[in-house]
Amino acid sequence: MSSSPDGHNGKLYIETVGCQMNVLDSELVVAALRKDGYELTDDPKAADTLLFNTCSVREHAEHKIYSSLGRLKYAKRTAPQKVIGVLGCMAQKDQDLIFERAPHVDIVVGTGQLAEIPRLIKETRSAEARQQQKAVSLGRRDGSVLEISSSFQSYDPLRDPEMRPTPFQAFVRIMIGCDKFCTYCVVPATRGPEQSRPPSHILSEVKVLADQGVKEICMLGQTVNSYKHTEDGRTHRLSDLMYAINEVPGIERIRFVTSYPKDMTDDLLHAVRDLPKAVKYLHAPLQHGCNDQLKLMKRGYTVEDYREMMHRIWETIPGCSVSSDFIVGFCGESEESHQLSIASIREFRFKNSFIFKYSERGGTKAASLMKDDIPEDVKKRRNNEMLAVQNEISEEDNAEFIGRRVSVLVEGQSKTAERKAARGEDASAPGDPLATQLMGRSECDRIVVFDGNPRLAGSTCEVEVHDCTGTTLIGSIVTKEVQHGSSGILPILS
Ligand code: 5AD
Ligand code: SF4
Repeated sequence: MSSSPDGHNGKLYIETVGCQMNVLDSELVVAALRKDGYELTDDPKAADTLLFNTCSVREHAEHKIYSSLGRLKYAKRTAPQKVIGVLGCMAQKDQDLIFERAPHVDIVVGTGQLAEIPRLIKETRSAEARQQQKAVSLGRRDGSVLEISSSFQSYDPLRDPEMRPTPFQAFVRIMIGCDKFCTYCVVPATRGPEQSRPPSHILSEVKVLADQGVKEICMLGQTVNSYKHTEDGRTHRLSDLMYAINEVPGIERIRFVTSYPKDMTDDLLHAVRDLPKAVKYLHAPLQHGCNDQLKLMKRGYTVEDYREMMHRIWETIPGCSVSSDFIVGFCGESEESHQLSIASIREFRFKNSFIFKYSERGGTKAASLMKDDIPEDVKKRRNNEMLAVQNEISEEDNAEFIGRRVSVLVEGQSKTAERKAARGEDASAPGDPLATQLMGRSECDRIVVFDGNPRLAGSTCEVEVHDCTGTTLIGSIVTKEVQHGSSGILPILS
């Protein structure tokens, strides 16, 4: 049964929750384990190695992982050779608590030690007696900045095309960690101090990805526009990276998430405006529309500062869309403050907003100094009210696109078509057995669906919009550009 020298069946199951950073980390872990002979399975029962890449931003995400782990208790008892690992933010935050709550877990590996996973799995498997292993970074008060920083290693080795969002899109980490210490947020503890990667490393990774057929690069950082690295006597910022990546043949689109509003400098806005490959979209979370709440959150800006930023964006990059994150029900949030958050959605007309109910996180300033005093039902109601207003705004703004043409990078089948196909139903488009519903994104990051041949995935199409919802533009294809291998772009009129 065993297909490998150290006695595993070669089947790896990995479950990932949380942000894009975790998606990328899982891609890199899988790539490293493939070198040790593993292949992926989506069936936890079939796997001998099960990894959970975790998120700690909200309590709900942690519950999900603890329930998944709970379901494995019996499996581990009957098949003790299975290695179960908990990786990422929750591993860094909870550490030994994970072994206490789920004693059948074998390894706990923080965000800064992912490179050690292949070795830890091997050692766990070959140990004579069962031995739990832990690899985590220092806490934010456990040493000098240099010591803490170097205990969080940036992990960007091999890539794994199968684990990407699509074969044409790849995340590239440009920095790790965060030094902003918003009072509600656990990230500075779980991801460590802010550290920017050298531009030369980033650029060579982008070139490798372009050679593998990647067309869209999404640069990742917790505060991606705070990127700063000195190399060869010169300080490089995010705008410099954008100019450099714009020159890489094969790359067609460049984007970045998530921006910190205070660091939205003009050089970056000019790069987004001037570079043909730059996606005209910024994710710049406001978090709250009331200055008192922003102060309690220690966001470092006021609504007025944010307004100034929005005016600069609108003036510099006409048509640029902006999305936000909001927290509802943060400590002491009054009905009036909540109304100010709602008003901010109307004023800034976000393309979309990710709205979260405040979840108290151990170890944060808010948890130790403030009272989580908004009842759950009030948080829920406020969340729904925010969502309703955001949907109304999104639908109004999407309707502006009706009758216009947008350029779409096709990602593949739409969710609806995928679901139909998964249920074994006919997913072909009405009247065209070769077509199905496709989805992609416009240059301002709007989701667009239209009927077309699935072979268009990875190509850029002109789509005329004739309908919309709050989340989606619905259209039909006008022209398409299909890239054949690396031989260039063939424009085809339909
Ligand atoms: N509770 C709820 N939402 C949070 N976020 C970060 N920390 C918390 C928390 N403790 C939200 C913020 C952030 C997004 C990724 O998650 O809005 O931008
Ligand atoms: Fe968390 Fe604030 Fe850093 Fe974002 S900027 S990761 S919300 S501490």
